[in-house]
Amino acid sequence: MAKKLFVRTYGCQMNVYDSARMADVLAPLGYAPAETPEAADMVILNTCHIREKASEKTFSELGRLNLIKQDKRAAGSDLTLAVAGCVAQAEGGEILRRAPYVDIVVGPQSYHQLPELVARAARAGGQVLATDFPAEPKFDHLPDGAPQGPIAFLSVQEGCDKFCTFCVVPYTRGSEYSRPVSAIVAEAKRLASQGAVEIALLGQNVNAFHGEGPDGKTWGLGRLLREIARIDGVERLRYTTSHPRDLDDELIAAHRDEAKLMPFLHLPVQSGSDRILAAMNRRHTAADYLRLVEKLRSARSDLALSSDFIVGFPGETEADVQATLDLAEAVGFAQAYSFKYSPRPGTPAALMDGQIAEDEKSRRLGRLHEVLERHQLAFNRRMVGRRLDVLAERPGRKPGQLIGRTPYLQSIHFDGAERLIGRMVSLEVTAAHGISLSGQVAVMEEVAA
Ligand code: SAH
Ligand code: SF4
Ligand code: F3S
Repeated sequence: MAKKLFVRTYGCQMNVYDSARMADVLAPLGYAPAETPEAADMVILNTCHIREKASEKTFSELGRLNLIKQDKRAAGSDLTLAVAGCVAQAEGGEILRRAPYVDIVVGPQSYHQLPELVARAARAGGQVLATDFPAEPKFDHLPDGAPQGPIAFLSVQEGCDKFCTFCVVPYTRGSEYSRPVSAIVAEAKRLASQGAVEIALLGQNVNAFHGEGPDGKTWGLGRLLREIARIDGVERLRYTTSHPRDLDDELIAAHRDEAKLMPFLHLPVQSGSDRILAAMNRRHTAADYLRLVEKLRSARSDLALSSDFIVGFPGETEADVQATLDLAEAVGFAQAYSFKYSPRPGTPAALMDGQIAEDEKSRRLGRLHEVLERHQLAFNRRMVGRRLDVLAERPGRKPGQLIGRTPYLQSIHFDGAERLIGRMVSLEVTAAHGISLSGQVAVMEEVAA
């Protein structure tokens, strides 16, 4: 009998990509997608450990899933429960203790072992834990993926060696690993043949990419992007997430020369205060960041910038907050994410003096939001009346409406037939909202098949 799999994903794009790959790995075992956990024979929770709130969701969600499991058992069937992702990696043993009904705990480097883990859990009727960092890269053992639609994600790099003092990623994802260029290009060609028009290259530290090229030399991200841009059918390229330290001239030049590389860059700065940046071990100053922004904008004048910020890092003073607000004003980000500092077990910053009270962090976050939202709205408003190339991505909420992405990664709503999905359309922007745009079809362009 066909079995059903439900995957719930928390956290970053890498987790979204990994969830799809886990479904790919389990498909040959007869697992087809389920709409709900209730309809599934197996549920995978793909978890995120980045902040306390994200991590706590794991245990509350597991409690709910256990109720479903017990109901199924009472009715004579069962539910296999697997926990994957960064909480699995960081707290595998703790999960098995606190949630003894969990069958499988699998870390991000071990997804290719899932068929074996499922078999072992069924045989043993007990719990299995796979959170080693295997020597062999998992990518060599993952099957080809199912089609992802017009916008596809492709992991090119994993892990992080930066050790920012607030961050769990170097511990949950391990050290930096770059896939070989030939494997990435093969996957990109397959994605294009499956209908992907836009490909986003993913990595925890994507611009630290240093993969082995077909010429035996080490390639950086700029070179890789140029290579993928040559693939027929690929109209748009993006990449995320980058670190200011690894933004080299080759990548900046790709933004100048490569028309398929979209004018959008997510480049987290975290803080505008040099003192805090040093305490975070970011290894760049606010001035370094501003210089980079200038260089990028002289390569591509319309480049839209995005960032992550953390407020309330230990020891952050009023002057530090002001420096962050000043930096946000100076850059004028097209969009940005901002977070209250969350102390994470095992990270150096969690043990630092000068931890800031929650309500003070909230006040600082509010002040930063005000600046960031103002700039985002201003950026969106500047689009009104312009014509933009939009990739129609999916149906909107209202009948007859579609949602697409502008080159600057804004969501744009417009009226259009469903057959336009997966195609480039030229839209005139008619209105700007806080986080999205409205538009109407100006000219339709055929996409090169
Ligand atoms: N590799 C990426 C993404 C890291 S996680 C990068 O280097 O930017 C995404 C964001 O979460 C980070 O940029 C940071 O702003 C935020 N973050 C990470 N750890 C955090 C913590 N302990 N508390 C609050 N925010 C955190
Ligand atoms: Fe975390 Fe810093 Fe690495 Fe980003 S660069 S993943 S914030 S340690
Ligand atoms: Fe979260 Fe792990 Fe991504 S901690 S942000 S899922 S790398």
